[in-house]
Amino acid sequence: MTSTIPVAELTPETAAEELARLAQVLGAANRDYHTNDAPNIDDGTYDALKRRNLDIEIRFPDLKREDSPSDTVGAPVADGFSKIKHEVRMLSLGNAFTSEDVDDFDDRIRRFLGLSSSDPLAYTAEPKIDGLSLSVRYENGKLVQAATRGDGDVGENVTANALTIRDLPHVIENAPEVIEVRGEVYMSHADFDALNKQQEAAGQKAFANPRNAAAGSLRQLDASITEKRPLRFFAYAWGTLSTPLSDTQFGAIEHLKTLGFSVNPLTKLCTNATDLVAHYKNIENQRPDLGYDIDGVVYKVNDLALQGRLGFRSTTPRWAIAHKFAAERAWTRISGIDIQVGRTGALSPVARLEPITVGGVVVSNATLHNEDYIAGLDSNGVPIRDGKDIRVGDWVRVYRAGDVIPKIDDVDLSKRPEDAEPFVFPDTCPICQSAAPREEGDAVRRCSGGMICAAQAVERLKHFVSRGAFDIDGLGAKQIENFFDDPMLAIKEPADIFTLRARNAASLGRLENRDGWGKKSVENLFKSIDEKRKIPLAKLIFGLGVRHVGDSTARLLANRYGSWDAFAAAMDAVIIDENDAWTALIDIDGVGQVLAKSVVHAFQSEQERAGIDRLIAELDVQDAVAPVVSDNPVAGKTLVFTGTLEKMSRAEAKARAESLGAKVSGSVSKKTDLLIAGPGAGSKAKKAADLGIEVIDEDAWIALSNAG
Ligand code: IVH
Repeated sequence: MTSTIPVAELTPETAAEELARLAQVLGAANRDYHTNDAPNIDDGTYDALKRRNLDIEIRFPDLKREDSPSDTVGAPVADGFSKIKHEVRMLSLGNAFTSEDVDDFDDRIRRFLGLSSSDPLAYTAEPKIDGLSLSVRYENGKLVQAATRGDGDVGENVTANALTIRDLPHVIENAPEVIEVRGEVYMSHADFDALNKQQEAAGQKAFANPRNAAAGSLRQLDASITEKRPLRFFAYAWGTLSTPLSDTQFGAIEHLKTLGFSVNPLTKLCTNATDLVAHYKNIENQRPDLGYDIDGVVYKVNDLALQGRLGFRSTTPRWAIAHKFAAERAWTRISGIDIQVGRTGALSPVARLEPITVGGVVVSNATLHNEDYIAGLDSNGVPIRDGKDIRVGDWVRVYRAGDVIPKIDDVDLSKRPEDAEPFVFPDTCPICQSAAPREEGDAVRRCSGGMICAAQAVERLKHFVSRGAFDIDGLGAKQIENFFDDPMLAIKEPADIFTLRARNAASLGRLENRDGWGKKSVENLFKSIDEKRKIPLAKLIFGLGVRHVGDSTARLLANRYGSWDAFAAAMDAVIIDENDAWTALIDIDGVGQVLAKSVVHAFQSEQERAGIDRLIAELDVQDAVAPVVSDNPVAGKTLVFTGTLEKMSRAEAKARAESLGAKVSGSVSKKTDLLIAGPGAGSKAKKAADLGIEVIDEDAWIALSNAG
């Protein structure tokens, strides 16, 4: 799709033709991305085309078109779906890649449950369908609602579309009063091929793979289009249930089948980890003939009571895992190595590749991680790829790690061009020219420019509007890039997003008068921005993009401090390594020294804090609500476990305490409310006694945790 004539060799005639072509291709890509939810070219290709367009315009300024893609800020936003809050969160799965990972999974579960390696422990094993998940709610046997997964908490209401999926019964008999059936929407290979033929015949773009086709079809605003797309559904899980389906996973799936749902015929009950891997191999052998895409095998603890005890980590269940198939690999050539600067200043080398299809997706760049990686060393200095370095011009083998991010795992030295030079990693930021030192213990070089670095500022903004953070409809990464450089309506920091409406009203270059925008799409954008002024504390903390603060840590911080005022006051009060405010921060289970320092620095750096305050002035921050409301007596209390627990593992005790709303701390202090001491308790029990803290044994803890 990229023309190969170098920009320097274009004549005015060929340049004009090329600009016309690029305006058409990029305009279509924008529409596909924003309005039709079907990105048909990957981000790297999009960026390359956009850069080529700009390069040509710089060389031939007179040829710049009225509808130049350089001036377009995104495409009109489709009138979206309404949102649905999932009563039971829709989770993702942890991954296993090797049979050792599967053994570790089994070991972890046994340890958590206090089972020995010879105790029986059954699992189910079933194909991991490569589609998109859907939660379908039935009330009194009638399909009343269907929602996509979204961010796991809130999905999109696609009920009208789901009603067109033939595998989904509209009415079910002898079902629980309320039942949410969850599973995967997918498209078969045969239906995918036929659909693409139709698309091409109608002059429309083909879908890259069945998963994209299924996603694009389910998310059509017009359900009559979905109806024409042959979507299918396998049920494999459930959300809210008014009555249990069974006491085992396998039984529940059989029950779903008797209710009229399609369940995968390769679902098998296995009695141990060896059986799991045997069934994995069996499914892998059948993979080419299944007629639909799968990307691994999912293992789940069969006993639902044990699933309940195992519970969840922040976004994944402890009782299930996805054992992924080895990724597809393909050879291509590196045409260049660029350095990208990330949100936290990290200089990340990216290999530009001659485009190649890997696992159904065109790949045109791959991450190279850092300078050691390029040189052929891992983070511990141990050789990787037999120590072969990576150079521009090399032939390399590409795969998509976890089926998403393209990586390189081998270099063909026999094809290395004679003049290929080892890559010299820069020690200054390619964007703002600030020094980019490599701190001790850090694998990457980081730009020291902070907010003066345009790349860091843009990446922070992209993170700010991303799905787990403010998730502003119609304001994605591409629009942020465009607005950042906008001469009239620049968005340089998060607060600028919320002043955009007022600045637009006062501007000469109003959005509604620009190409690609109309009154309605501009109003939609402002509306979706305004909707996010009211923001949950955890999303705000995550959105700030402080280094090391991911969404689960943001949730921990929000739950501990409760309100923005309390959180900000606490961070202001901290004197690192010295006062109570610091101890309170690092006492949070899951908050380590490095993370704590990073948060405190962000709050105490004058420049960063000023930006945060400007943002807060635009927002209505919602206090955190305790995640699990329980009337158990330990809710809101701080507990410490010590000594040996005999009836449940430490991990289970901790998870149970947290699910009841208690905090678990590793050390006894004045703030401890209760010490649970098993045999062998030593200094902690003594300290608790000295401080007059209540001490109970394991049986009393079990009784207490079952109370209320
Ligand atoms: S179970 C609480 N089973 O994989 C666990 N998921 O990477 C819920 N998926 O979001 C998921 N086939 O979209 C489960 N047999 C299967 C699956 C499956 C595909 C998808 C699902 C999920 C994703 C997690």
